[in-house]
Amino acid sequence: MSGADCVSDTIRLADRLAKVFPSQTQQVTVAVSQLRRRGVDVIDLGAGEPDFHTPEHVKTAAAAAIRDDFTRYTAGAGIIELREAIARHYADRYGVTYDAEAVVVTTGGKQGLYNTAMALFGPGDEVITHVPGWPSIIEQVQLAGAEPVRVRTWAEHRFEVQADPILDAVTPQTRGVVINSPGNPTGAVMSESELGRLVDGLVGRDIWFVLDLCYEQLTYEDTPSNLPRLLWDRMADQTVLVGSVSKSYAMTGWRCGWILAPLAVAAACNVVQSHSTSHVTSITQCAALAALTGPQACVSMMRKQYLARRDALFSWVDADSRFRVSRPTGAFYLFPDVSELLSPDGRRTSAELVQALLTDAHVALTPGEAFDAPGFVRISYAASMDVLQEAWRRIQRFLA
Ligand SMILES: Cc1ncc(COP(=O)(O)O)c(C=O)c1O
Repeated sequence: MSGADCVSDTIRLADRLAKVFPSQTQQVTVAVSQLRRRGVDVIDLGAGEPDFHTPEHVKTAAAAAIRDDFTRYTAGAGIIELREAIARHYADRYGVTYDAEAVVVTTGGKQGLYNTAMALFGPGDEVITHVPGWPSIIEQVQLAGAEPVRVRTWAEHRFEVQADPILDAVTPQTRGVVINSPGNPTGAVMSESELGRLVDGLVGRDIWFVLDLCYEQLTYEDTPSNLPRLLWDRMADQTVLVGSVSKSYAMTGWRCGWILAPLAVAAACNVVQSHSTSHVTSITQCAALAALTGPQACVSMMRKQYLARRDALFSWVDADSRFRVSRPTGAFYLFPDVSELLSPDGRRTSAELVQALLTDAHVALTPGEAFDAPGFVRISYAASMDVLQEAWRRIQRFLA
């Protein structure tokens, strides 16, 4: 069902809605809250957000902003202190030296990607991305009037993005490549060597490279993956980096992200933003500033817990031969193949399996269909160990 099908036939919507689909991941959230309102004890491993609370020092900064009446319009691209802090964060983390003017603060990483799509892509353009992948990337390209081109990654390669299939998909119409690493829903992290080979094929061409780093602080292996530095060194003038405080600092509801881009692109993204949301709320900007410049122990604590949960959940799922799963190296999701659990005369699709798990076992997962990967399910491990244990017990009881 596309966006245009969501309303009655008598309402005429803009043509662009005909190709755009509502977020299936948000549909899981709605289904969970409906069940909870009816008093059902549902375990939600479908949501793509941390279960931790926003760190205290971040909340204190936001409260201070309200108390100090920091409640008026700010500059569209964000307060200069926050833009500087974001630039510094990337300099410290990756060794890339963006000016504060190259930073635009956006309403979550999602609006960073949206502004970028609206600023760079349009009718007649093709934009390559990888699937299984986060659906908004594709829908935003459609909203911009461009054509998304999907390149598949494979469970056998732990869903890692490889250069050759992307380069094979390039045509004279290609205007952009959008890569998400660490990836949602797969947890895959792109390697420096594959990115290097991809850059070899793209550098100097009229093709933008957009890197969605929204899970950048949630990686669990020591394998080097300094993708921003490689892009900075070899094709900074073709690169847009997108990040966010949402996942790293448990701040999904605050809505703060950013882009770092060549100055002209940053300015164009700011134009898009200035006519839509104007800017991120003044209070959230103060909170994000505290997150980036305050103590970082909260991030390490959360990462440590995600790692322990990943290892526990992976060991349970991997021990059940009906699931085929690889150990993800980033984000907070497991993405097992559940096709062994499907059959033509039973539950035929992963969407049906997920629906049955929700109604009968009261465990919410997200079907692979939401990520262009039927036959898979996404299990979030952004939940406490006790909750994960109980969810797995319920799933096992249901499957028995
Ligand atoms: C891959 C990916 N990119 C970007 C985002 C956007 O995050 P936010 O807008 O909350 O910062 C998400 C959120 O789920 C995501 O999974």
